[in-house]
Amino acid sequence: MTTTLISGGTVVSATGRTEADVLVDGERIVALLEPGSRLLGTDVSAGVDRVIDATGKYVIPGGIDAHTHMQLPFGGTEASDTFETGTRAAAHGGTTSIIDFAVQRYGERVQDGLAAWHEKAAGNCAIDYGFHQIIGGVDADSLAAMRALPDEGITSFKLFMAYPGVFYSDDAQILKAMQVSRDTGMLTMMHAENGPAIDVLAEQLAEAGKTDPYYHGIARAWEMEEEATHRAIMLAKLTGAPLYVVHVSAKQAVEQLAWARDKGQNVYGETCPQYLYLSLEEQLGASSDEWGAFEGAKWVCSTPLRSREERHQDAMWQALRTNDLQMVSTDHCPFCMKDQKELGLGDFRKIPNGIGSVEHRMDLMYQGVVTGEITLERWVELTSTTPARMFGLYGRKGVIQPGADADVVVYDPNGHTSIGVGKTHHMNMDHSAWEGYEIDGHVDTVLSRGKVIVDGDQYLGAKGDGRFLKRGLSQYLI
Ligand code: URP
Ligand code: ZN
Ligand code: ZN
Repeated sequence: MTTTLISGGTVVSATGRTEADVLVDGERIVALLEPGSRLLGTDVSAGVDRVIDATGKYVIPGGIDAHTHMQLPFGGTEASDTFETGTRAAAHGGTTSIIDFAVQRYGERVQDGLAAWHEKAAGNCAIDYGFHQIIGGVDADSLAAMRALPDEGITSFKLFMAYPGVFYSDDAQILKAMQVSRDTGMLTMMHAENGPAIDVLAEQLAEAGKTDPYYHGIARAWEMEEEATHRAIMLAKLTGAPLYVVHVSAKQAVEQLAWARDKGQNVYGETCPQYLYLSLEEQLGASSDEWGAFEGAKWVCSTPLRSREERHQDAMWQALRTNDLQMVSTDHCPFCMKDQKELGLGDFRKIPNGIGSVEHRMDLMYQGVVTGEITLERWVELTSTTPARMFGLYGRKGVIQPGADADVVVYDPNGHTSIGVGKTHHMNMDHSAWEGYEIDGHVDTVLSRGKVIVDGDQYLGAKGDGRFLKRGLSQYLI
């Protein structure tokens, strides 16, 4: 087994930072040593196979992106990153685990949906991966099948209050699924938007000739997110289900979560980089020579980008500071403009919903450290430690400590990352939602279970390095 020493760096955790060397033996971290690699007064650096010099750099637990959609069939097409391309891109950006969503559709068996996802991912991933289960058809069969999921290492499921006719669950179905959540300890993840009402608004806008991508954001008004978030909270309260609301973008939805948490309810929320940085006016309303007003299609996702005039972005950053929101995931669901987003030319309702960001989350959130929005420790907490705790991976993942998997990122705060199109990103997309973003930091080295998979800009990993993660229950259950 290879031994590796990461020396001279500042080890950052969710609770503090310390000057320490990290000793890795095979796939695991075995010790944190005093600077100078001293263990009980003895210098151990001479005996290791490899030394990574992290002087002046941060040494952090690998990022965990708990919300991705590789190869998701959606919006009349399929998300453009495969498990191979998407996880390789994630690795480049310092993410060493993803949790993707296996899909069960109405009329399909949960077991078959899960098996199909294992088939897509097995042998293809660059980094470790787990699954949540989308339940797109809540009925007696799927409710029974859900109870067996924790034994498979699937300890969370997602329901949709949006997308009628696709993944939508009505309140009766949500109530029944939440009862399973209460009984089993599985976390209920909720896409909280009032889909039926949104569809009416969208139809009325389209009939009035308002067909540009911008109107996607108008139809999916924040009131629709606030209302659904409140409804999900009340159904969770009634059933006793633990609730995790995904891709929160409206400040009013955060207020609902904060209100419920203040009352002692076990509810959580994630936001995504797009809701921190991007907006209805600047992105959904964008126009270019190439695409005209259809340029905004690049940023069509749900929940939608919100108004900067209404200061939703500021509210998201604030909620991350105050712990009204606990995590940042990407909701990585990439589509190319050519042949994919183009499906919605002339009708925003037909634009496949999704943005690709899996490669940039760690950098984009680090930029929040640079600008003073969050602390260094909170960066690690939001992107790695809490995801591990929330989704039953903590101890193995999300922390640098003896016994943990050696998923480690050496991050250079004096480095620089320019995000552009094509050669500067590794996602399988013909554009970037983040083109032009400049990051005052750089992912230098990435280890996945002790193997160096990224060294500078060089990828040293291989398809199939990543293993399936059987997850335990959330640490946040009460
Ligand atoms: O626009 C999005 N979010 N696409 C992916 C599916 C979902 O709702 O998470
Ligand atoms: Zn969703
Ligand atoms: Zn999603």
